[in-house]
Amino acid sequence: MKFITLSHLRQLKIEGNKFASLTAYDFSFARLFANEGIKVLLVGDSLGMTIQGHNSTLSVTVADIVYHTAAVRRGAPRAMIISDLPFMSYSTPQQTFKNAAKLMRAGANIVKLEGGKWLVETVRMLTERSVPVCAHIGLTPQSINLLGGYKVQGIDELNAERLLMDALALEEANAQLLVLECIPVKLAERITKEVTIPVIGIGSGNVTDGQVLVMHDAFGITGGHIPKFAKNFLQKTGDIRNAIRDYIYSVETGIYPSAEHNFK
Ligand code: KIV
Repeated sequence: MKFITLSHLRQLKIEGNKFASLTAYDFSFARLFANEGIKVLLVGDSLGMTIQGHNSTLSVTVADIVYHTAAVRRGAPRAMIISDLPFMSYSTPQQTFKNAAKLMRAGANIVKLEGGKWLVETVRMLTERSVPVCAHIGLTPQSINLLGGYKVQGIDELNAERLLMDALALEEANAQLLVLECIPVKLAERITKEVTIPVIGIGSGNVTDGQVLVMHDAFGITGGHIPKFAKNFLQKTGDIRNAIRDYIYSVETGIYPSAEHNFK
C-alpha cells in the first residue's frame, strides 16, 4: 500500500470514490487491516469501552491513546492514522497543543476532536501549527452525560440546521476531515455535498465519502446492545481476511450501509 495522505482522500472525494475505515487499537489488527487494504485507521477513544470495558469513553486518557497509536503505527506504517483527543484533553489552548503533539509524536497523522462551532478556534490554532484536524459531530460520545444517551442527532429541523452550520464552520476553520455519527441519512447527504472536505460516516448512511466502524461491531465481537447501523462481516465466511475485504468492497460499492442500517 502506498502512503495514504489527506490529498489522496480529497482526490477520492473529487472522483466520487468511497473509502473504508476501521478502528484499530493494536499492532496485529492494524497490520491485518492495512494489509487487506483499509486506508484509514482510527485509534478511537471507543477503546475505553471495547478494550478497557468501561461503559463510556470518558475514562480514556491521552496516555492510553498514545500507547495504542504507537502500536497501530508499528502495524500500519503507511495507513492514515486518526487518533482521538480524549475527553477534557482539549479544553485550553496550551493543553490542546501539548496533547496533540503527544499523539502526533506517537504516529498519528491527524487528531480528532468532538464538537461543533465552539471548536472553531481550536481547529484553527492546531492547523496553523501543522496539526491536521478531523472534526466529529452528530452523536459525540464524550458528551454522553449532556446528551442523555447514545441517541440519533439532528432529527428536527433546528438541530439539523445547527449541525450543517457546525460542519461549514469547522471546514472554514480548516478542519481536514469530518466524522458524522448517527445522523439521518438525508442530513448526512446534505452535509457531505456542502463541504469540500472528505466526510466519514458512522450510522449516517452510504451517502458519505467514507465509512468507519468500530472493529468489534464489524466482526460481531460487541456484546450487549448492537447498534442498528452495525453489520457483522465475519458471519458470512468466518474468515477475518474475507470479512475485511467484504467490508471494503461493501463500502466502496455503496452496498453497506443499506436502508436497514439508516436513521430517518
Ligand atoms: O472512538 C471511536 O471509535 C469513534 C468512532 C465511533 C467514530 O469516534
